[in-house]
Amino acid sequence: MAVFQVVRLGEEILREKALEVKKINSNIHKLLDNMAETMYAAQGVGLAAPQIGVPKRVVVLDAGDGLLELINPVIIEKSGKTVDREGCLSVPNVTGDVERAQKVVVQALNRKGELMEYEAEDLLARIFQHEIDHLDGILFVDIAKKIYRNE
Ligand code: CO
Repeated sequence: MAVFQVVRLGEEILREKALEVKKINSNIHKLLDNMAETMYAAQGVGLAAPQIGVPKRVVVLDAGDGLLELINPVIIEKSGKTVDREGCLSVPNVTGDVERAQKVVVQALNRKGELMEYEAEDLLARIFQHEIDHLDGILFVDIAKKIYRNE
């Protein structure tokens, strides 16, 4: 496992649409391991593969209840609206007020290739939406209602 440098705003890879994972093999397992290690080292709550330079639809997150690994995640239901402050490891020293769905249902493959379904609310739902946006080249600063610098 290895800690990677997190790609910063301005790098083209953060703006690309990441590619679906076709086959879950040892390379994907290694990617998941490296992403988790990088996320924890940076004290983040979520990380998308493009943030370590890999244009694949892979996300790791941990809102405090343990590591979740998502391959090809898709939001299949959204409800409610809530605004809260968000940050991103790729956009240091900036936070913003972002409106997100209050509740989401997400389907994704786990590392064994099993289709999992996650129901999430509030912070966890926010992290899911933020990380899945990364896979489509969207950063929170693009959709924030208000941006705060150096706080
Ligand atoms: Co982010």
